[in-house]
Amino acid sequence: MTPNSRFIILTWLLVNCINKSALAAKRLSYNGLAQTPQMGWDTYNAYALEYNETTITTNANALVQLGFRDLGYRVVIFDDAMTELNRSSDGSLVENASKFPSGLAQIADNLHRDGLQFGVYSSAGRFTCGGYPGSLGYEYTDATWWASLGADYLKYDNCYNEGLSGTPKLSQDRYAAMSNALNSTGRQITYSLCNWGDDKPWEWASTISNSARMSGDINDGFDMPTASCPCGPDEYYCQVPGHGCSVINILGKASHFVSKNQPGYWNDLDMLEVGNGGMDYDEYKLHFSMWAAIKSPLIMGNKLDQLSAQDFGILVNPAVLAISQDPAGSAIQRQLVRQVNDKDEYGFGELQVWSGELDNGDQVVAFLNIGNSSTTMEFSLVEVFGGIRTNKNAQKRWDLFDVWGNETVMSNEVATQILNGTLAAGDATGYYNATAMSWSQGLNQNNPLLFGTPVGTVQPGEMLSAEVPRHGIQMWRLREANMSSRKRDEV
Ligand code: GLA
Repeated sequence: MTPNSRFIILTWLLVNCINKSALAAKRLSYNGLAQTPQMGWDTYNAYALEYNETTITTNANALVQLGFRDLGYRVVIFDDAMTELNRSSDGSLVENASKFPSGLAQIADNLHRDGLQFGVYSSAGRFTCGGYPGSLGYEYTDATWWASLGADYLKYDNCYNEGLSGTPKLSQDRYAAMSNALNSTGRQITYSLCNWGDDKPWEWASTISNSARMSGDINDGFDMPTASCPCGPDEYYCQVPGHGCSVINILGKASHFVSKNQPGYWNDLDMLEVGNGGMDYDEYKLHFSMWAAIKSPLIMGNKLDQLSAQDFGILVNPAVLAISQDPAGSAIQRQLVRQVNDKDEYGFGELQVWSGELDNGDQVVAFLNIGNSSTTMEFSLVEVFGGIRTNKNAQKRWDLFDVWGNETVMSNEVATQILNGTLAAGDATGYYNATAMSWSQGLNQNNPLLFGTPVGTVQPGEMLSAEVPRHGIQMWRLREANMSSRKRDEV
């Protein structure tokens, strides 16, 4: 064999192996989409059913101008109330011309022109939750219509389901009907179930969809219990998901099945509340960090033209987003809960430790203080990594990067300039353009914005320690000590 033909055979083998492993990774997703958790914006949390074309245009423009689009927040979801209250005589949905005077197809074109995606909504029931026509029995008609408009995403609710729930089989069949209908259109449409955890979608939905809600609706509150969300955070399965569920309530429920996440299928903890005013800065930081690290879709739900500088800084934090969009798609797990005496006004006094691995072997560690006052949290590497002394991660020396460190979080001054239009997001210190260079490329190249602020090293057997504010979080990325100083491709 000539050296030349040996080279050709080797190249062929290499290319084939790479293609096969890329395919194997894609195969986990039922339709090849949502390889990392979806990102975008939805009307519901800020506007309920009161939105129209102007609302959409205002927020879509903000997605582009404030740099959200280039971070990956692409889909704009029209959440309920999109159509007239009745179908036409041939059974088709009828768009609401007074709310959307340009027509939905034109609005979808405009979104696509701006590099955004068009997200639609319906329910696997007779009506949507807002009382508009649902798609049960009309799956093919409606999927064909949405595809003709240029839809890229469907949020599919659970209201008025005619009693077709109560067993996983009943729910799966009902949601699979729409999955098949979407596939039959030939258009790539991300499929997001919104069945509030009914019948445990984390056990069956990954083969027919890209994500599924796992709880009742979120509200803009940190840990206040509400009568409308009757199951507590420790309940693994909730028969009455309800609405008005707090961040801590949803997080507790989600902690039981975070391992069900995988590229192409995500447990959806519901939309973000950051920017809606009901929580303070530390609470919103905890909410955003945990939704990212647990791999929930990150769908903003606030008025983007009314953002404060601080809340903007949360939503664009590149070190946190790099964890959300990490190629491994693996969620962090709760390792430890410790009760403290200093309870807050709702009786919560809990310290929690979470950790999990990222694609390049880095680790995420989060300390949560769900208690009444600021406290020093101190845990050994053994405790951080699951309490097993022989855990290999507890034996390593780690460099610590604070994902909320000053050097990596955009300053309020810079954020204000972006928000008032005097500075382009792309030119701002602390902004990472994930469209120009993907999260995984940026990590491979050791872009410091994606790691966080270096804050020291922890040796095997040592404690990790931080002062964590009331209702706050300390989240680090850990890199094996001799790795962070070298470029990845030298390792
Ligand atoms: C349900 C869903 C919400 C939202 C509303 C719209 O409550 O869970 O996320 O879509 O319906 O009416």
